Amino acid sequence: MSIVILGIESSCDDTGAAVMRDGELLSNVTASQKVHEAYGGVVPELASRAHQQNIVPVVDQALKQAGVTLDELTAICVTFGPGLMGSLLVGVSFAKGLAISLGIPLIEANHLQGHVLAHFIKSPLRTPFLCLLVSGGNSQIIKVNAYNDMEILGQTIDDAAGEAMDKCSKVMGFGYPGGPIIDRLARQGNPDAYHFSKPNIAGLDYSFSGLKTSFLYFLRDQQKEDPQFVEHHKEDLAASLEKTIVEILMKKLKMAVKQTGIRRVALSGGVSANTALRQAFMNQQKAGNWEVFIPPFSFTTDNAAMIAVTGYYKYLDKDFATIDKAAYSRTTI
Ligand code: KG4
Repeated sequence: MSIVILGIESSCDDTGAAVMRDGELLSNVTASQKVHEAYGGVVPELASRAHQQNIVPVVDQALKQAGVTLDELTAICVTFGPGLMGSLLVGVSFAKGLAISLGIPLIEANHLQGHVLAHFIKSPLRTPFLCLLVSGGNSQIIKVNAYNDMEILGQTIDDAAGEAMDKCSKVMGFGYPGGPIIDRLARQGNPDAYHFSKPNIAGLDYSFSGLKTSFLYFLRDQQKEDPQFVEHHKEDLAASLEKTIVEILMKKLKMAVKQTGIRRVALSGGVSANTALRQAFMNQQKAGNWEVFIPPFSFTTDNAAMIAVTGYYKYLDKDFATIDKAAYSRTTI
């Protein structure tokens, strides 16, 4: 009998549902929430309300696209955390109700583990490997020993890489989310036009708040001289900022490769869509003798395919959640 998993993701501002049969992805539907753009960031209450509206149509569409009916489902896997509590509760409550009504197991997915397991969607990635997980909320270097055994070697002590891009984009008056805008502008700019401060943090941890502050002060000083400074130099600013962030990320990752001796290195999370970061990975493959793994764009930002694949492997291990398990806003891997 085949194993059919419905994956559900609602931890932040994307409502996702995906269906997987025997480890093969049949559908992956995401409804992104435009409502936050006007506020320059995710508004938790609005996110929860949008999830409420999206969850039924998104799940319905994922089942239809997969050609699967509810009674064919073997188990439901849902993100329990970390994330925004109100958002998580929509997906978790929906999944619990559906699992109870169908009489099938409920499986817990950790959002961060899910991002790493995006590398298992097409086929499982041989372990051990290192994973650089960079998103709007996280910047971590993870040692992956097995699909369910991960160790954080280093992480940000303040802002995440994506958050730094989003905040710098906001002070330049660009839209939200800033990462893709900076990526696009940077393609036409000179990455060596400006030099911003880099953190000096011990070990494998990251810090991005100092860069954000120095960027802010730099802009303020320049705007005093030329109120149109950002408008005149936006491409160079974006390229220089992006280069700095990529260099900060790669420096610690190279240290982690050296320390662990593991040369198989994967990239995950929303910021892994970034062109310069992807290029830096490819360069390491050539120059640093790394074996690199970069996910397709559709599996970089929040999606339910990564939750469905988590569910598939946990189902094989009969690793089920009890119905009284609560969603959690904060956690480690
Ligand atoms: O993993 P993700 O979808 O979820 C959250 O952590 O919320 O990551 C979103 C982050 C945002 O900060 C966004 O600006 C960033 O990923 N991002 C990018 C790019 N596409 C998305 N950052 C840089 N370049 C991109 N092309």
